This record gives sequence, C-alpha cells and structure tokens, in this order.
Amino acid sequence: MPKDTVVKPATVTCTAPVNIAVVKYWGKRNEGLILPINSSLSVTLHQDQLKTTTTVASCRSFQEDRIWLNGKEEDINHPRLQSCLREIRRLARKRRNDGDSSVDVGCLSHKVHICSVNNFPTAAGLASSAAGFACLVYTLAKVYGVDGELSGIARQGSGSACRSMYGGFVQWIMGEREDGKDSVAQQVEPESHWPDLRVLVLVASAERKPVGSTAGMQTSVETSSLLKHRAESVVPDRMKQMIEAVHKKDFATFAELTMRDSNQFHATCLDTFPPIFYLNTVSRHVISLVHQYNRHYGEARVAYTFDAGPNAVIYTLQQHVAEFLQVVRLVFPPDNNNGKTFLTGLQVEPVEISEELKNAICLEPMSKGVSYIISTQAGPGPRVLEDPGQHLLGSDGLPKPDA
Ligand code: DP6
Repeated sequence: MPKDTVVKPATVTCTAPVNIAVVKYWGKRNEGLILPINSSLSVTLHQDQLKTTTTVASCRSFQEDRIWLNGKEEDINHPRLQSCLREIRRLARKRRNDGDSSVDVGCLSHKVHICSVNNFPTAAGLASSAAGFACLVYTLAKVYGVDGELSGIARQGSGSACRSMYGGFVQWIMGEREDGKDSVAQQVEPESHWPDLRVLVLVASAERKPVGSTAGMQTSVETSSLLKHRAESVVPDRMKQMIEAVHKKDFATFAELTMRDSNQFHATCLDTFPPIFYLNTVSRHVISLVHQYNRHYGEARVAYTFDAGPNAVIYTLQQHVAEFLQVVRLVFPPDNNNGKTFLTGLQVEPVEISEELKNAICLEPMSKGVSYIISTQAGPGPRVLEDPGQHLLGSDGLPKPDA
C-alpha cells in the first residue's frame, strides 16, 4: 500500500446550531446520565448567525485522542467529553457486530483529533455548550459511519445539546426509564413551518460571570420547592400548550407561554438557597420594555426569554422587527464608539416610530446597556461540510493556523 494512504487521516467537518428554550430545562434527576426533571422545548437558531464548526480526524498514526477548542488545546479527559466518545464508539461497535456495513471498521481502533470553533464570541455569554456537544456527536457519528438516534448521546455532553441535533422547533422528552434511553429530542416542526418568526439576541453587558447552569440547577434541585412544583404541576401542561401554539403558529400564546416560563425559571433561581441571580438591571429594563410595547398594542407582539445569564432573546414576527428594534435603540442608545456594529445578522431597514408609541414607553434610556444585537431566525439542524478546504485540521492532524 502506498505510504500516504496508510497515514492520511479520515477527516469530517460539520456544523451545528445554538438553540434557545421557550420551555426551560432546569434540574436533573440523574447527574451522570443527564436526565432532566421536566421536558423542555426550544427553537433552533439559524447557523448563518450562530454556529459551532467541528472537524474530527481519525488516523492509525495518532497516539492519543486530543481536542482543541477555540484555538486552545483542552483536556480530553473531561468526563462529559469522554461520555460522548465512549457512547459513539459503543454504538459503532454494536452496529458493526449487528452486520452494518456502513460502519468504518478501521476507524474503531484509531484515536481521534477534534478541533472546534464558534462563530460567535464566547464572551457574548451565549450557551455554546449545546452547539458544541451537538456538533461533536454529529461529527463523530459521521466519522464512524453511524446514524439514527444520536440526541441521547449529545444529551450526555450537555442536556440542552440534545435539542441542537434537530432544526426548527424541538422538544426534549424527559423520559421515564432509569437508563435514560427514552430521554431524547424530537422535532415538533421544521424551521420552514413558521417563516415569519424572528429572533433578536440582545447581548447585555455583563458585569461578571454568572453561576454556571450545571452547578446552578444542582443547587435548585436540592433547595427549591418551587422547582419541584414547576416540574410536576406546571411544565406538563405548558408543554402541551406550547406544542399546540407552535403547530398553529399562534404567536400571542407562544409569546405569553415563553415569557411566563422564563419568569418562572428565574423565580426558581431566586427560590434557590442561596439564591441565584441571572437577570441584571439591563435584563429587567428589557422585560419592562417588552411589556410596555405589548400593552401599547393590546396584544403580545414581542416575547423575551433569558437563560443562565443577562442576555435577552426576543421572539417576534417579521412585521414587528423594525419597529421594535427602533424602540430598543431609543431605550438602549448604541455606543457608537465601541467599534462594533450595533445590529449584526439579518439586516433590518430603520423605520420611524410614532409619538404615541414613544410616549407609551416610560423608561429612562440606559446607554451601553445592550452592547450589540444579533438578528436571526429559526434554522436547520447539524450538517456536513463537503468542501475539504473547510476542515479545521490539516493533513498532519493538527489545527490549521487560523482554526
Ligand atoms: C437555562 O444544558 O447548559 O439554558 O445539562 O448541566 O450541561 P447541563 O446544562 P445546560 O442547561 C441549560 C439551561 C438553560 C435552559 C435550557 O436551555 O433549557
């Protein structure tokens, strides 16, 4: 065999999206397997604006598994990373033993090199672990030639990652089994279902790094009775209502449920002992702004939701985006000196806002509160990049200089 066919790594590059929950996951019943205490539902955001790209190379000359994240080599022995690697390899072995010819037998005994980057700044405080683990699992599966249900493996990297395995509107069914086999994500509707839906990520300037989700939800499970009530008596019905609102494209119901669910999640954080504060003054200003805007029109045109940090994610419809953005500019005057464009992503033509609307918004302007806005929409799930030029690892199996 010629030398280069022996040592050339098998390389695959894929991308995966971020998702933002409208019915939140908060609390585990099994920490190791990452099994939640309630089901959840999210919208997958478009990868044109927010995505993780991951290259996995497998080669018999590699001495050990290695990983580089956003330009820096990290510890491959991280338990959640090891869970994903182990589960994909186990699945590949099982498929091969069951006689599946698509499984790459050679690959199974090889070590892998993994290189992953986000197209958005980690400092933006956007949950990158969901896109990251979804991308890792999806790419590893392609390298080993396994397909089918993979969300249960992504879940073991980070709970919310299972929902990034699909595009559009996705539910994570909590499941009942002890082994977690029925705790998987499922697409409720594809991204094409609701083309008018728009998403604005208002990146708030955070003073400090908040408590991480994993530690935060653990303390909530241990100390918050509101969390128990939420999981048992609120979320089951809310999931049904939310799925129906999505099916019917009923924005008013979708918006109210989204805001109520975000508020209840943050109430459980306050009910946690010691309490956890993810919302800051900017977040609270956004909440007031949305309610004043909706009150002015007598209907829910805009909804907010917040994860484990102060950034607001706004859901609205195409016909309201321009006006709402103008109101945001009024309340959070952009800092033109920060050298960044205030609005990135899908472009929106500026519009005039009426005096009545201006008068309806009774909020003190808060300059520099929002550092920038990402304008996006629902998008598809993970995909393979076919062009070898897009690999993040070179033919030597090491990160390319700009990766
Ligand atoms: C507030 O999925 O980051 O974003 O499973 O411990 O990795 P781990 O937690 P993670 O939690 C996400 C929590 C949330 C709500 C959500 O996305 O549903």
